Amino acid sequence: MRLVKSIDQVRKAVRAQKEQGKKIGLVPTMGYLHEGHLSLVRLARRKCNFLVVSIFVNPAQFGPKEDLREYPRDLKRDLQLLKKEGVDLVFCPSVAAMYPGGYQTYVEVVGWNKILCGASRPVHFRGVATVVLKLFNIIEPDIAVFGRKDFQQAVIIERMVKDLDLDVKILTGRIVRERDGLAMSSRNTYLSAEQRKNAAILYQSLKWLKQAYVNGLRDPKTAESRMAAMITARDGRIDYIAFVDKNSLEPVKELRRGTLAAFAVFFGKTRLIDNTVLGSNLDIGHLFIPM
Ligand code: PAJ
Repeated sequence: MRLVKSIDQVRKAVRAQKEQGKKIGLVPTMGYLHEGHLSLVRLARRKCNFLVVSIFVNPAQFGPKEDLREYPRDLKRDLQLLKKEGVDLVFCPSVAAMYPGGYQTYVEVVGWNKILCGASRPVHFRGVATVVLKLFNIIEPDIAVFGRKDFQQAVIIERMVKDLDLDVKILTGRIVRERDGLAMSSRNTYLSAEQRKNAAILYQSLKWLKQAYVNGLRDPKTAESRMAAMITARDGRIDYIAFVDKNSLEPVKELRRGTLAAFAVFFGKTRLIDNTVLGSNLDIGHLFIPM
């Protein structure tokens, strides 16, 4: 497994593989890897012959008051994990390489930038789309894999790929969860022991919703207020709870097959997100039971 920091070098390395007819896969990450990331790496590994994982904590997607400085990092451990997964190349650029002095170009998927997570994180998706487009331009992958944990992010990337005629196939992987159902996230490390215990309510509220939907619940307002009550009873502070069409991200008047239920909730200062799609084969993710 090669570790490459320079844009020129990664371009050369990938192009050499392409010339040999290899299919290139990319899994973009911000590092501090967990089983959620590794599940995407395994999915990508099966779909390509040369697998690149990028690790880059992208300043452009953090707001001025967000956790860019505190964001957890452990490159040594990440590299050990990726080596075990048979990754071919890890691209780990510096901020100066990605955003040199004078940098001023950004990509916006305008319709979806400011809704759901974009409402409280106004620069977030602009930063995500920009860095992902840069990674696509640098690595020129045939496939790229994203997690459905960040459902809006995956939908935005798919839209950008269509709109800008990018020649890359986007694949998505299911949500990987801790034993108690909490979706794995690098940010879970910020939680105190009590917040961590309380955060299990997020998964429980999604399970409740799935069951209530099966039992005939169709009114999004009722669903929202019941879920909000469950979450606030455990000291979660709701940023948003939304019921939208999973393709258009438009709010629905009635819960139906294909409705995305998504929320962001603060426990203390830590903002956690989770989601599920109603009535579809996309289940609620699977539990990772550590051996
Ligand atoms: P990061 O939060 O490191 O996540 C990298 C990828 O892992 C994303 O596609 C995310 O959806 C996926 N992921 C995270 N937790 C997951 C879980 N519990 N189950 C399944 N997949 C999970 O998302 C980003 O980084 C950045 O925005 C990035 C796309 C790298 C652009 O900077």
